[in-house]
Amino acid sequence: MADEGATVLTAAQDAGIYIPALCHCPDVSSQGVCRLCLVRIEGRRRPEPACRTIIEEGMVVFTDDPEIERLRRVILELILSDHDFNCLLCPKSGQCRLQELVNRIGFDEHRFSRLEHTAKDLPIDTSNPFFDFNPNKCVQCTICVRTCHEIAGIDAIDMAYRSDNLRVSTFANKPLKDSVCVSCGECMERCPVGALIPKKFKHPTREVKTTCPYCGVGCGLYLGIRGNTIVRARGDDESPVNHGGLCVRGRFGYDFVNSPDRLSLPLMRAYDEYAQPSSVVEMNEEGRPITLPLVKREGKFVEITWDQAIRYVASSLAHYKGDEIAAISSARCTNEENYLFQKFTRVALETNNIDHCARL
Ligand code: SF4
Ligand code: SF4
Ligand code: SF4
Ligand code: FES
Repeated sequence: MADEGATVLTAAQDAGIYIPALCHCPDVSSQGVCRLCLVRIEGRRRPEPACRTIIEEGMVVFTDDPEIERLRRVILELILSDHDFNCLLCPKSGQCRLQELVNRIGFDEHRFSRLEHTAKDLPIDTSNPFFDFNPNKCVQCTICVRTCHEIAGIDAIDMAYRSDNLRVSTFANKPLKDSVCVSCGECMERCPVGALIPKKFKHPTREVKTTCPYCGVGCGLYLGIRGNTIVRARGDDESPVNHGGLCVRGRFGYDFVNSPDRLSLPLMRAYDEYAQPSSVVEMNEEGRPITLPLVKREGKFVEITWDQAIRYVASSLAHYKGDEIAAISSARCTNEENYLFQKFTRVALETNNIDHCARL
């Protein structure tokens, strides 16, 4: 029993029946450009693309017969004939839909060897800081174009030129970095082959479900881990907040986690460049840290322990109340942390001077 308005392809998928498909992506509208999903429908003269054909009551569909298989093989051979087919060196190998289709459908080696292979040898666009576009691996499925239009709403790319020269292009064929592309990576995420590939591509060995720390939207994401390092991030399709979508920060901005520059201990500006950490937060007879009058002086940072840092901050805050002090919270904190911070500011510091860096 299929849903009303479903296509033959989605109805078959729901019923566990395999129909090959390359240009279909469930997140965007169907265009029916690859023709690999052709099926035969009783009473109709020509095979029809399953991804563009709406089911009807009493419809009899043949998803596989010798003629359909022959057609699919020929179409696949034509797609492969101008594809830069070097799977061994391709980062997408193992997760590539074209590879999967070759394994499923196969091709006639004799006929394929007689096809003229037109190596495109087009320049690879490496201008985007996060991903590369290799037009030689593009199969013109248009998923990226539909994604940029329907999901990102940016329209940074479109199909340009005609026939053999048909390709994905920015306006006036500029490099991606000079286009209106906002680097959200939504297109890259959906590209079925190795044409749009993240710059630092590594296969994760496990995934951890978490929440993006960058802003108050709180998008759900999965971090792909290899060893002890984050190597990719992908949106959580089930998250009611972002439904799998991510912005440039959530998708690519995870380098800080493993950065050697990341602070792992509190730092304090020392008044004496030879000062040892333990001497930094000694208290004077009034209970104030002896460094306090000197904190603004030029000096170098030294590492101190969390206990020392908290004692220093607590004893310093004790000297201010009401309008003498204001507090700024962070969008990177959780809602709970932000709640506690405003409570602390209002109750302990006795001020309503509390704000937040991103009131989303
Ligand atoms: S895109 Fe797919 S088929 Fe093409 S080289 Fe890469 S892995 Fe092979
Ligand atoms: S990264 Fe985002 S904005 Fe840029 S082309 Fe892809 S979908 Fe469009
Ligand atoms: S870049 Fe990828 S998603 Fe875009 S048309 Fe080419 S193969 Fe399809
Ligand atoms: S998946 Fe139907 S035409 Fe491409």
